[in-house]
Amino acid sequence: MTDTLPGAAIPNPLDEAAINAAVEDAVAAIAAASSLDELKAVRLAHTGEKSPLSLANREIGGLAKEHKAAAGKLMGSSRGRVNQALAARTQVLEAENDARILIEETVDVTAAPRRRRAGARHPLSTLQDRVSDIFVGMGWEIAEGPEVESEWFNFDALNFKPDHPAREMQDTFFVEPPEAHLLMRTHTSPVQVRSMLEREVPIYVLCPGKVFRTDELDATHTPVFHQFEGLAIDKDLSMADLRGTLEHFARQMFGDEASIRLRPNYFPFTEPSAELDIWHPGAKGGPRWIEWGGCGMVNPNVLRAAGIDPDVYSGFAFGMGIERTLMFRNEVGDMRDMIEGDVRFSEHFGMEI
Ligand code: PHE
Repeated sequence: MTDTLPGAAIPNPLDEAAINAAVEDAVAAIAAASSLDELKAVRLAHTGEKSPLSLANREIGGLAKEHKAAAGKLMGSSRGRVNQALAARTQVLEAENDARILIEETVDVTAAPRRRRAGARHPLSTLQDRVSDIFVGMGWEIAEGPEVESEWFNFDALNFKPDHPAREMQDTFFVEPPEAHLLMRTHTSPVQVRSMLEREVPIYVLCPGKVFRTDELDATHTPVFHQFEGLAIDKDLSMADLRGTLEHFARQMFGDEASIRLRPNYFPFTEPSAELDIWHPGAKGGPRWIEWGGCGMVNPNVLRAAGIDPDVYSGFAFGMGIERTLMFRNEVGDMRDMIEGDVRFSEHFGMEI
């Protein structure tokens, strides 16, 4: 075909060979795209505004009238071939993508689940609650006192003389500075004095809590341990009341076969004082007497220090270690197991002991 008017500004028909070559290029690039991202780049390069095919398409408008139809047909079929190739490749790559995601995000429904442990209450807490419940059941109240205590409450008010050996550095953690006369309480007995100062008589209180002594940690000692202290102040209380209370307590804790025995002893804050033994019917290796704690009638000097008239009132007190009780009641051989915090130790006691 030739131009109708020589020298006129009407271009020749489109270069079919070049357009076919552009289509071949595009189809080859589409086939080579190995991901949807790559295919997107190929689409831009071969069908975008600046691609050879778009540029050729734009030339149709300037062609001589008689060439337009043929050029339009050529461009239409060329672009059609490229679009078809794009659509087919998109389908293949999307299917591949879906298959890969399925594999990557597979959930193995047969895998054993990893369970989180719910934890367990520590048997010292459970036992402390049990002891408290028994006394609350008898109408007693639970009392608390500070763990950092003044020397006066821990020793002086309890009738310890200034040179009593328990005040020595090797038993007691003193809190600095020494002039403050503060210490980590060595027993729960200071709560006796606090209770008498804070409450009206009659008083029936049980005080469970932490105590501190400068002992090395071993199978039967720990520098931080727990005691519970009992205190009763009323008119006409005697050793018989102390005995009856402790015997009831012992049976609640160790069964009806249990009984107690008192052996003379000395504590500055009780007079008379006694060592308390328990007949433990379920003891490991057979029933036997086990040393359990201390007790006695509240020393009149202690009553006086707390503002109670010893001619009108009398009282009894007792104190036991919770760790020690757990050891012989629940057969724990080593006190260190109680403080290591291994949940497996706590778990086997359950919620009720
Ligand atoms: N406080 C004494 C101790 O820790 C025990 C005790 C308490 C003794 C009450 C008598 C009366 O060893």
